[in-house]
Amino acid sequence: MRWIFLILLFSFNNLFAEEVNLFTTRHYESDIKIYKKFTEKTGIKVNVVAGKSKPLEKRILEEGKDCIGDIFFLADVGRLISAEKKNIFQKISSSIFESEVPRSFRSEYWIGIAKRARIIFYSPSKISKNELKDLNYENLSEPRWKGQIAIRQANNVYNQSLIASLIEKNGLDYMKKWLKDFVNNFSRKPQGNDRAQILSVASGESKLAIANTYYYALMLSGKKGKEQQLAAQKVKPFFPNQNNRGVHMNISGVGVLKYSPNKENAIKLIEYLLTPEVQSHIVNNTFEYPIIENAESNKLVMLMGKFKQDLDTPVSSYGKWQKEAYKLMKKSGWN
Ligand SMILES: [Fe+2]
Repeated sequence: MRWIFLILLFSFNNLFAEEVNLFTTRHYESDIKIYKKFTEKTGIKVNVVAGKSKPLEKRILEEGKDCIGDIFFLADVGRLISAEKKNIFQKISSSIFESEVPRSFRSEYWIGIAKRARIIFYSPSKISKNELKDLNYENLSEPRWKGQIAIRQANNVYNQSLIASLIEKNGLDYMKKWLKDFVNNFSRKPQGNDRAQILSVASGESKLAIANTYYYALMLSGKKGKEQQLAAQKVKPFFPNQNNRGVHMNISGVGVLKYSPNKENAIKLIEYLLTPEVQSHIVNNTFEYPIIENAESNKLVMLMGKFKQDLDTPVSSYGKWQKEAYKLMKKSGWN
């Protein structure tokens, strides 16, 4: 009798001998399906620890070598770089990362899993598309936009990444002057999230809003209620810098933790997240763009149209200017 029990115990243990621990700021019930499929294919169990970025990062730092985490999944490269600077990640490489993910969306410490663009939104009843013709981010400091632009606060990481990319392209001196003029063009004291900026355009309070693409599609989907859906329907996306470098891009992505106990399994899971089927699933929930070429985005995202992306400015360069960007933004009166 006893040996039967031992055999059973052994096989049960063996069943989940392989595992990977995913620390993530994504929380979608439907992601569980992805992990189950991964387990069926590989025998590797996925344990998910979901939370907000700051508390998860704090836990990882405090637990150090004892931390069970293998992968850390974060939105916005600003957060990935800030984690990288705290020495949280280890270097990773895989031929799949190299073949599937454009160079500008990965570094040796982290890799993009989905991408988003930070663009301009306008109300066609207030502005003609002609007025926006050839518009670049750089033009948003011009006096013709005085009192018309809605954007959220300076402490927001998406804004810091955008301004960092503009510093990378135009230099610090140019951006010092630019930021003062840009802040002068705000329609109101920055407040609320990205969706609140789109609402401000819909209500006629502002002529332009800056927000990430997925918030617009999220509002259109009705998942944020009828009111926001109707508001978004009054607003259109505009992709700037189409005659030069392209639109400012950002990523959600993952890094492998420095003390990852299951590094090989972690790489396997990341490679799995880069397969077309899983990519489509991931971006269908978040309304982001897939990071690989041949995966589909959500219908509402596709309806926003094709555009030229800035692939010349690696997202890793935002990290170089993140602190300086925030300092300059505050100094220019951006609250
Ligand atoms: Fe967001």
